[in-house]
Amino acid sequence: MTEIETLKADLLSSVEGASDLAALEAVRLDALGKKGRISVQLKRLGALEPEQRKQTGQALNQVKDELAEAISARQKLLEAEALSAQLEAERVDISLPVQQPLAGNIHPLSRTVEEIAAIFADMGFSIAEGPDIETDFYNFTALNIPPEHPARQEHDTFYLRPDAENVRPVLRTHTSPVQIRTMQKEKPPIRIIVPGRTYRSDHDATHSPMFHQCEGLVIGENIHMGHLKGCLIDFCRAFFGVDDLPVRFRPSFFPFTEPSAEVDIGCRRVDGKLEIGAGDDWLEILGSGMVHPKVIENCGMNPDEVQGFAFGMGVERLAMLKYGISDLRTFYDSDLRWLKHYGFLPIDVPALHTGLDEGV
Ligand code: PHE
Repeated sequence: MTEIETLKADLLSSVEGASDLAALEAVRLDALGKKGRISVQLKRLGALEPEQRKQTGQALNQVKDELAEAISARQKLLEAEALSAQLEAERVDISLPVQQPLAGNIHPLSRTVEEIAAIFADMGFSIAEGPDIETDFYNFTALNIPPEHPARQEHDTFYLRPDAENVRPVLRTHTSPVQIRTMQKEKPPIRIIVPGRTYRSDHDATHSPMFHQCEGLVIGENIHMGHLKGCLIDFCRAFFGVDDLPVRFRPSFFPFTEPSAEVDIGCRRVDGKLEIGAGDDWLEILGSGMVHPKVIENCGMNPDEVQGFAFGMGVERLAMLKYGISDLRTFYDSDLRWLKHYGFLPIDVPALHTGLDEGV
């Protein structure tokens, strides 16, 4: 065997023996790199006789070509092996059961407030808020609630410790104080709803010391009882999703509205189960009335120039009726099983209500 043939056999067997891409690269450098075994021989050609130079040059170039080919073939093979090893290592077992991502639910009370807000937003109302801790003035006096009214009694209302001026703040007993706050700072036309927490000293299956109300207030020129009725009929029908829901206005009394009306919706009870929208029974769902002239005056406006109507509803009660929840106390138990059952997926929110778009 000539020296060149030995070199060739040696290099080719190194290529075959290279077990990974790094080893193969080392073989390549050892042969064809600047100081590689073939390169060195090629450099020496200059010193040979012309005839020998030609022969040796041809032979070396042939070895060089064969070697390059062998390296490239080996490289392809090693790359393919590396890829299948990687695929094997990263294999995903698609037969494994999928783990459902944990998603939070929307609490039925939040959902109900969102529904109420969406319906009134369609009618041009915006949302107003006020403090939970109120003064006697906003919660009672400005709303024309007389000093002897039972709502002012200790056993009905939560009072806080007296302040420096010996005035006792009160946990608001309704959302109506926000009517006053809004009328004081905004000029008519006013169209607001006020969802929020309210507090009364009561606790049983249908009462909680903390609960939620949503107030409504419309103030403007020439606002009359017809507006009140139209607005609340539309609301009730949209909220319960019953286009021809019977709605009844029953005379009532609130110190801050005159005249006042309780709003009832048609229902019937079958085997103790309530069905909304049909039958000859009635269910009270909210209080309302034309804003009392004294209240308008208390807010610095002239009742001969502007009038309005107001309403207030219990959010728990509406949620219980719509979603068939029987015990009010469960709203606040934070029982995960209850929340999973009655809660809403956030994704449901766009489909908040039906039936109002054509009507208004
Ligand atoms: N504030 C009243 C209540 O708590 C509800 C109401 C609001 C009635 C506005 C009339 C007008 O019962």
